Amino acid sequence: MSKIADNCLASNRWTVNPLSSFDAVLRVPGDKSISHRVAMLAGLGSGVSRISGFLEGDDCLCTVNAMRQMGADVERQGCCLQIKGTGGVLRQPQMQLDLGNSGTSIRLLAGLVAGCKGRVVMTGDDSLRSRPMRRISDPLAAMGIKVEYIEREGYAPLVINGGVPQSIDYQLPVASAQVKSCVLLAGLWAEGVSTVEEPAPCRDHTEMALIKAGLPCEVAGSVVRVSGSSGNRLDIPALEWIVPGDFSSAAFWIVAAAARPGAVLRVDGVGLNPRRIALVDILRRMGADIVVIMDENASGEPLGSIIVRGGALHGTVISGNEIPNAIDEIPVLAVAAALAEGVTEIRDAAELRVKESDRITVMSDNLKQAGVGVESRADGMLIEGSSKIPGGGVFDSHGDHRIAMSMAVLATYGRAPSSVINTACVNTSYPGFVENLQLLRDNQN
Ligand code: S3P
Repeated sequence: MSKIADNCLASNRWTVNPLSSFDAVLRVPGDKSISHRVAMLAGLGSGVSRISGFLEGDDCLCTVNAMRQMGADVERQGCCLQIKGTGGVLRQPQMQLDLGNSGTSIRLLAGLVAGCKGRVVMTGDDSLRSRPMRRISDPLAAMGIKVEYIEREGYAPLVINGGVPQSIDYQLPVASAQVKSCVLLAGLWAEGVSTVEEPAPCRDHTEMALIKAGLPCEVAGSVVRVSGSSGNRLDIPALEWIVPGDFSSAAFWIVAAAARPGAVLRVDGVGLNPRRIALVDILRRMGADIVVIMDENASGEPLGSIIVRGGALHGTVISGNEIPNAIDEIPVLAVAAALAEGVTEIRDAAELRVKESDRITVMSDNLKQAGVGVESRADGMLIEGSSKIPGGGVFDSHGDHRIAMSMAVLATYGRAPSSVINTACVNTSYPGFVENLQLLRDNQN
């Protein structure tokens, strides 16, 4: 895959030493979800859009490469990404779209290419090929877009036979932003108005990006509505986009500070979309001292700073509507639970089983390795915390970036060095993770 810039993590194993308290200020790379959406809409626009803060992680580069294959020109100009869009149409790709490890790429692009006249083949790595795709092919089929499964029913590789979709009124069976976005993006090309209703609020970056791009999208409570172009070109102007830092990346450092008495951390320029930051409320409920400062001058997606002062945490219950707004942070919240006094219960989170790995099984196994009492459940975990983590374990990410980083955070709380193996996957979302961990180490008190 061609890269826009070199990424810096080469090793596939980390040794993580204990960390004492620190006083540090850092920024995290751009938001992954927003970067995907901006690459798609800028790639479809007319003229040249400029994007600052774009996340050059492997997942978003898969989306960039797919947009290139469909006619967009993408290049790096200084610290910005410059995308010359296709003028509102998609060229049928000559080759299959390889979407690597990226669920967001495959599910959102499946909707987008519903408007590309012809067959589009999509595939990915072993993890992506084991993740459920019926959740997108069902609504696409109801829109008259035929999805073929090449090897195994319900899993990539798959073929989208694009054309002019019919409109749909769709009630999401799961609170999934990827499925919601797939239907909305297909709806952009449809004849007539499509609606998607979500069972619980899940991330709304697609709606926000469509509205910013001037596309006919409206939100009314739990229903999102888009008007389709009946297969005609989409009219998207060239735009300046600013991608805030990824809250999901900041979450690792928030937990690295929150349970460490004496630690002080400030993360600047981080996205504060309310549908992404349930971790703040959850950690506060666990006793954490966290201050959120909104940047009142930000236009578009909300952003600002987060200040954390470390202290003692206690257990809580994480469940219900809180889950979709903390879904990618559950592994690192499990780490916070492991460090908290008492029991934490995570439930209603069965979606964790179909992420980059089965995050309930993989986190439970790793926490056991770390000497933490865990019981895994069909839809969550019961974690018996303790502020005393022995350290010295070997933790396997199973190729899941968020597991690797979560276990590295836990390892910093150990009393002896630990190892995390299979860490190359971290490049999917957080190039520079190791450097930021080093920054905390350099700022120890
Ligand atoms: C994402 C939505 C979430 C999240 C994923 C990114 C997105 O997935 O877990 O990392 O960008 O829309 P689901 O929509 O499957 O919950």
